[in-house]
Formats: sequence, C-alpha cells, structure tokens
Amino acid sequence: MEKLQTALDKARKAREGQDPDTDSITASVKTPQRTTDVDDLWAELTPFDVSAEQLEGRRVHTQVAGAKATSYDILRTKVLLQMRQQGWKRIAITSPMPSSGKTTTACNLALGLGRQSDLRSIVLDLDLRDPSISKFFDVTPPSGIDDVLTGKVDFKDQAMRFGDNVAFSMATIPDADPTRLLLAEETGEVLDNIENRYQPDIMIFDLPSMLVNDDTRAFLKNVDCALIVVRASKTRYGQFDACEKEIAQQTNVLGTVLNAYRYAEPGKMGE
Ligand SMILES: Nc1ncnc2c1ncn2[C@@H]1O[C@H](COP(=O)(O)OP(=O)(O)OP(=O)(O)O)[C@@H](O)[C@H]1O
Ligand SMILES: [Mg+2]
Repeated sequence: MEKLQTALDKARKAREGQDPDTDSITASVKTPQRTTDVDDLWAELTPFDVSAEQLEGRRVHTQVAGAKATSYDILRTKVLLQMRQQGWKRIAITSPMPSSGKTTTACNLALGLGRQSDLRSIVLDLDLRDPSISKFFDVTPPSGIDDVLTGKVDFKDQAMRFGDNVAFSMATIPDADPTRLLLAEETGEVLDNIENRYQPDIMIFDLPSMLVNDDTRAFLKNVDCALIVVRASKTRYGQFDACEKEIAQQTNVLGTVLNAYRYAEPGKMGE
C-alpha cells in the first residue's frame, strides 16, 4: 500500500514537471502511449546550443529569468493566456516595415517559452527572402525550411531543438521568390502534419514585413493570430494603420509590440 502511494506521488510530481524520474511505474502512470511517441519525436530532433555572448549580442535575453527578460516574459504570458483562451496555437510575428524587431521578438518569446518545461514551442523562419534566425543563433541547419515545406525533407531531419522543448525550423539560403511556396495548399498541409505529430502548444512564425512584398499576405491564412512589431521613432502611424487593417482582413490581431522605446524604465522593453 505504502509502495503504491509512493508510486502515485511520484507520478503526480512527474506530471507536474517536478520530477524527471523515469521509474517504470511512474512512467506508465504518467504517459499514455501517444505522449510517449511525441516525447520520442522531440528527443530525436538535433539539439543545438547558443553561447550566452551570442544571445546577448543579438538582444535575446530570455534564456534565463532576469531584469532584461521581464518585459518579454510579460509578453509571453499575455500571448499565451490570450491564445489559450481562444484555443489558438499559431501566431505570426510581422511588422509594417523591415528592421522593426520581429526576429528579436520571436526569439525572445521562444526562449522565454522554453523556460516553461511543460510547454512545447516550434518557431518557423518564414522570412524566406532574408533568413535570419540561423544568423541570430550562429547555427547552420542541415537544410532549409523550404525543403520541409516542399516535402523534400522531413521536419525531423531539418528542425533543431533548443533545450528540451523549443524546436526551430530555420531557413538557410535566401529565396528570391517565395510567395508561391507561402501561398501553396501543400504548405498548409505540411504545417498541419507537423502540428499533429509534434503537438506543440504554440507555433511561432517569423514572417517578413507586411508592406514590402506579398509574402506575409500570402501566408496569413495559415495562422490563428498575428502580433505586430513596430519600432519606436521609425514606424510611421500610417504604416502601422495600413498593416493592421490588412492583417485584420485575414486573421486576428493579437496585439502590438512597441519595440526600442527609448524612454522606458530600466528592465522594460526598449532597453
Ligand atoms: N529594442 C531594441 N533596441 C535596439 N536594437 C534593437 C532592438 N530590437 C532589435 N534591435 C536590432 O535591430 C535590428 C533589427 O532587428 P530584427 O532583426 O529583430 O528585426 P526584423 O524586424 O526581424 O528585421 P527584418 O525585417 O530584417 O527581418 C537588429 O540589429 C536588432 O539587434
Ligand atoms: Mg527578421
């Protein structure tokens, strides 16, 4: 009886993420077969790590908790709560014009989510004309995300895992005309397949700027909502307005991030 109680206590703790013990009784109580399969799929992804200096140099502050991570952590929690409330899984990150901080925001959001051990996140670099996540992390994936989207390569052989629970599918070589790929029905099917197999809690799509070409417009049908990143002192109101109106015609606008606001208190976004 006492043994059974101990096993049940262990199983409860493991479910709550408190105890990574893989005792056989615990494991069988903890994980139905389907979850075990998903765990295996995640474990099989090629892991990568990034030095603290590299992350700092790219303004990615959320790998560990701290003052610099706080504003992104607040963003993470707000995004997560709102998406859960609505039953949404896929979020696009875009901006009216380039260099607004989309990739910085996507990476900070992802690494902040990674600190929640009970959540799985997948980040997809769909800024195919100007791939940048691989540069952010200074890592070279075995092939580009375009090969996954066209079905040439399986996600498991292309995506790379940061920690246990964040996967990045990165682009490699710039594609001069990716609109067709972003518009294709097959692209939607591949994404559905990835979502079904890997069961992420959230999929983050780092997209190009809205007003410079057709790519984001072509892709938005595949997401549940979008976050707009505007850059303080750079993005004009008219640009933001046009961007928001276009996005709202195709998906839900989750909110707007005002990036690089210079008058924020220390530890707030804009530092
Ligand atoms: N809050 C900030 N303060 C200062 N610099 C920033 C801030 N956020 C981002 N940057 C810098 O601005 C540049 C553009 O950022 P980032 O690559 O995230 O933007 P982007 O919108 O993804 O750009 P692109 O349109 O080229 O994809 C980078 O050099 C980044 O380090
Ligand atoms: Mg970018």
